[in-house]
Amino acid sequence: MPDFFHQEPLRLGRVGGLCHLRFVMNVFRISLKSSAAIFLSAAILCLSAVSSADDKTSFVKPTVVPSLAFNPLSEAKIKLGQRLFFERRLSGGNSMSWASCHQPDYSWTDPRRFSLGETGVPRPRRTPSLQDVAWNILFARDGRVETLEGFVLGPITHAEEMNQDIDLLTSELEAETGYPDLFEAAFGARRITLDGITQSLATYVRTLRSAISPFDRWIKGDTTAMSEAAQSGFNVFSGDAGCSQCHTGWRFTDQQFHDIGLKTDDKGRGKLKPDAILSQYAFKTPSLRNVAIRPPYMHNGSISSLEEVMDHYQAGFISRPSLSPLIRRFKLTDQEKLNIIEFLKSLTDDIR
Ligand code: HEC
Repeated sequence: MPDFFHQEPLRLGRVGGLCHLRFVMNVFRISLKSSAAIFLSAAILCLSAVSSADDKTSFVKPTVVPSLAFNPLSEAKIKLGQRLFFERRLSGGNSMSWASCHQPDYSWTDPRRFSLGETGVPRPRRTPSLQDVAWNILFARDGRVETLEGFVLGPITHAEEMNQDIDLLTSELEAETGYPDLFEAAFGARRITLDGITQSLATYVRTLRSAISPFDRWIKGDTTAMSEAAQSGFNVFSGDAGCSQCHTGWRFTDQQFHDIGLKTDDKGRGKLKPDAILSQYAFKTPSLRNVAIRPPYMHNGSISSLEEVMDHYQAGFISRPSLSPLIRRFKLTDQEKLNIIEFLKSLTDDIR
């Protein structure tokens, strides 16, 4: 089992971080379908927490891990969820676990461009990182899932992912030693249920947080924690290059969907919103924490290095009606581009 505790101590809470309102609204959203408008205002309020390089408070990592009201975090659920995360019996042929595609050493994603499902079929999109997803508003690259709990059974049962027959799952686990005890500790009953599997997996995934990086030490006042190059890279990132228009806050994501002009046939968010021009070819802005250790990049893994990412933003993007108006050509010197890359590398965990 990995050790990911070079971090702020884990504090279990329902609501945390800058955007408290967002989580409260997320909980409401489950019971009140009609609260879409209220939710939208909450999201906008959260976005107003967006930062500039001068306002360092928005880059400070929250210490309380948020969760939904109906599934509060507990040590017992984390323990059960951790065992399930690494459990190969969750797949149809007992050959793969969640960790097969979300590997701890690669910031909880897959070093392969496309993960292979149990039947050997490559997935159409690159596996996203699970790190810090407790703070997500929506899940999956196109945001089609609203909660982590709503997400976890999907990959287990998908024929081209873990390919498990859902009716067999609980009895398979019942036959394994330890699970009834773990369920009793987590839920007060020894019976293994799909609900318990869902809740504990979601709980464990919420604890997969990025650790402290040189950037975090610098933000907290250690002026030597980041090189001069990385510091000026951060200023360009937040200034002339315009990166922080979308990569905002401590996770460096606005949690919105944008077309950044990649060559792709995948309509992304546009499949869910066929009439919204700006949703075509749009994908969720990924967090940039630990980005240096998890190439290749983008939803289709089409960019293999951070240097190429910079070339894309500088001039390599395709102009089309859906292209985000925030994407525009900029002129940076080679040194400035290298500095931005240095800054991105400073978002790598101190201890992995
Ligand atoms: C209009 C919003 C927007 C702007 C501005 C923007 N990005 Fe992005 N960025 C995105 C989105 C959306 C993606 C994911 C695109 C996809 O997967 O199709 C992305 C992906 C990335 C990735 C790959 C991350 C991964 O895990 O695959 C890096 C690195 C990155 N951006 C860095 C930058 C830098 C550096 C700048 C400034 C030069 C910048 N971005 C400007 C929205 C933006």
